[in-house]
Amino acid sequence: MKRVNKLPLTSQCHHWTRLGEVPWNLQKYWQQRFTIFPYYNEGIYMTPDAWFGVTPEPVANQIARDLSSIISTSKTTVIDLFAGVGANAIGLALATAEDGSTPRWEKVIAVELDAPTLACAQHNASLHGVADNIIWVLGDSFKFLDTLLNSPENLEDDLQVDVESTALFASPPWGGPGYSTDDIFDLNTMEPYNLDQLHGAYRRMDHALYLPRTSDLRQISKLVPDGSKIDVVQYCIEGASKAMVAYLPATRDEDEDTHMES
Ligand SMILES: C[S@@+](CC[C@H](N)C(=O)[O-])C[C@H]1O[C@@H](n2cnc3c(N)ncnc32)[C@H](O)[C@@H]1O
Repeated sequence: MKRVNKLPLTSQCHHWTRLGEVPWNLQKYWQQRFTIFPYYNEGIYMTPDAWFGVTPEPVANQIARDLSSIISTSKTTVIDLFAGVGANAIGLALATAEDGSTPRWEKVIAVELDAPTLACAQHNASLHGVADNIIWVLGDSFKFLDTLLNSPENLEDDLQVDVESTALFASPPWGGPGYSTDDIFDLNTMEPYNLDQLHGAYRRMDHALYLPRTSDLRQISKLVPDGSKIDVVQYCIEGASKAMVAYLPATRDEDEDTHMES
């Protein structure tokens, strides 16, 4: 798996300026474009699918601030495992350390499976002046992590990061636009990746999971090492929650064993 330089925008990538250009099923999302990206008119690019899953920029920036304070400063690399059109990766690259003058993260890596979506992310990051501060990887983030953990020598040098000083951010797909109308969202049924798959892949590192706002807290509690307290934060815009983020610590194998026995 390789880092990629600037990918070309394709016919899948667009910056719509008039309602008439927008497919009917995306019009309600496009109407909220300035909530999603306050600087939309600077030339933000999206793919059609990205409208359903993008993190609104004010939320992405708040998550980046919260990650900075919740995650130990001994973690110097952060990996955005589902970069999409870049809102979170951009927020992470813009985040500053407590002194306000240096970047919080020495390295920000952003992984995305879909080339046109990644091209939009790179373009949007360049509008924010941080495209060159992010290492972009085109591919499957589960494969990327597996390689990092088990055969890092197969990665390029600047992707061979120290696992102990790395934190993860994951905003996976939740199952499409009509992901669930249940009062409580069952994270075991989340598609295409459920909570166990995500946590199983990430558990060796501190990780933040961006999840539906009604996610079942009992399922998240099961992942918390005994005696630990974690942050689970609801992120709201205009008085309504958009999503929750669970900030989960790395678990050691002993912690997992204790859970299995209890
Ligand atoms: C909910 S969106 C992420 C939104 C992103 N936070 C943003 O603000 O634009 C999920 C993204 O994950 C990508 N994706 C799905 N499976 C993936 C995988 N295994 N590895 C990397 N990216 C994946 C999808 O193409 C989609 O762009």
